[in-house]
Amino acid sequence: MRLSVIGCGYLGAVHAAAMASIGHDVVGIDVDARKIEALSRGDAPFFEPGLQEILTEGISAGRLRFSTDMADAAGAAVHFVGVGTPQQKGGYAADLTYVNAAVDALLPYLSEGDIVAGKSTVPVGTAESLAGRISATGATLVWNPEFLREGWAVQDTVDPDRLVAGVPSAGGEPDEEGARAVALLREVYHTAVAKGTPFIVTDYATAELVKVSANAFLATKISFINAMAEIAEVTGADVTQLADAIGHDARIGRRFLGAGIGFGGGCLPKDIRAFSARAEELGRGESVAFLREVDEINLRRRDRAVHLVVDALGGSAYTKKVTVLGAAFKPHSDDIRDSPALDVAARLHGLGAEVTVTDPEAIENARRVHPQLTYVEDRDTALRGADAVIVVTEWDEYRRELDPSHAADLASGRIIVDGRNCLDPAAWRAAGWDYRGMGRP
Ligand code: UGA
Repeated sequence: MRLSVIGCGYLGAVHAAAMASIGHDVVGIDVDARKIEALSRGDAPFFEPGLQEILTEGISAGRLRFSTDMADAAGAAVHFVGVGTPQQKGGYAADLTYVNAAVDALLPYLSEGDIVAGKSTVPVGTAESLAGRISATGATLVWNPEFLREGWAVQDTVDPDRLVAGVPSAGGEPDEEGARAVALLREVYHTAVAKGTPFIVTDYATAELVKVSANAFLATKISFINAMAEIAEVTGADVTQLADAIGHDARIGRRFLGAGIGFGGGCLPKDIRAFSARAEELGRGESVAFLREVDEINLRRRDRAVHLVVDALGGSAYTKKVTVLGAAFKPHSDDIRDSPALDVAARLHGLGAEVTVTDPEAIENARRVHPQLTYVEDRDTALRGADAVIVVTEWDEYRRELDPSHAADLASGRIIVDGRNCLDPAAWRAAGWDYRGMGRP
């Protein structure tokens, strides 16, 4: 099928390349000429495992191209809209400027029978507000949220755990236009459909809410375990053992019960805030009031990590050499948006520490936002002479591959703070380190 993907950021670039990889003829469109130039050359604009390969493959097979000209969307049967919905400046609500601009720019190129598939994460009610403009051209709007995780984005796009389509409905069922849109979307996602991937067909509002409620649930799960870490800290309990034990209950599950410095990234923090703001607008602020607590617990964990370092250094980090292992908001990503890792590094710098940051992928991005920090590519060079070391992104390079005795040969001090509870305390202590975890004795 011929497809267009409007917006070639994280979501759009991966979506375009992934759709080409399953045989579609795809044009990716973005207003950012530099991004389009890079993508057209086959250069992945960010680090995402597997993206480079499918980008190169799609371009050389002639199934994937990129353009800054919206007119190139004309003729596609399905137009995906995957532009950003950042947090508004000075507020919690989502900024819909890019979604509105993308749809307005696309309107002149839509034909009778086309599908516009919204993928951006939007406040509930957005699809309804866009549908009229789109149907006036003879095209149909569907809301088809994306659940990809950074670091697994290609796999999650090609082989998602569920597909959701919000379509025009009447009396709780897709109307004729909606049913036709569903048939087209099933063709688009033919590989996942053939595998029997659950395909949930619903109305616009439910589809929009599926996305934000999934992220709200995940954020709540992480903050729940971090709240337990706070209690563990004053009782001498071990939050990782607690998580293992409750995680064996299949109703709870162990995933996303990793206590540490909390969640960050371009999605969870902004999505829970936008959800709160939207609920307020709808007169149901109290229904998701707990999300404020979720946010606050999350932010407190960064303070805790900083406190652990300062405390271990005897009450002051001033002029102390602190090596920060990690900058990305999570491993397998070079994304530093709202990264708790980088925030901890910047706060330690603010307290007068001489901070050296290392990360396998995110240094370039981190330097742009926090040029005041010292960055070193090589992990061992970064460790040399450190008074204290803190792990803030659980890359294998630190979690599995860093031998405590080897680290002890490099550092000056013996303080290790495990901001992600990803190290083996016994092994580090045996090598002479003063090990401090998050919510662990
Ligand atoms: C998140 C969701 O997981 C995806 O399903 C969703 O599609 C995506 O947002 C989105 O809205 O686009 P992502 O932001 O890539 O994906 O990252 P996650 O894997 O959810 O991790 C988010 C943060 O939580 C990271 O900082 C991670 O370190 C932290 N985390 C995760 C924990 O602190 N503890 C855990 O147990 C798990």
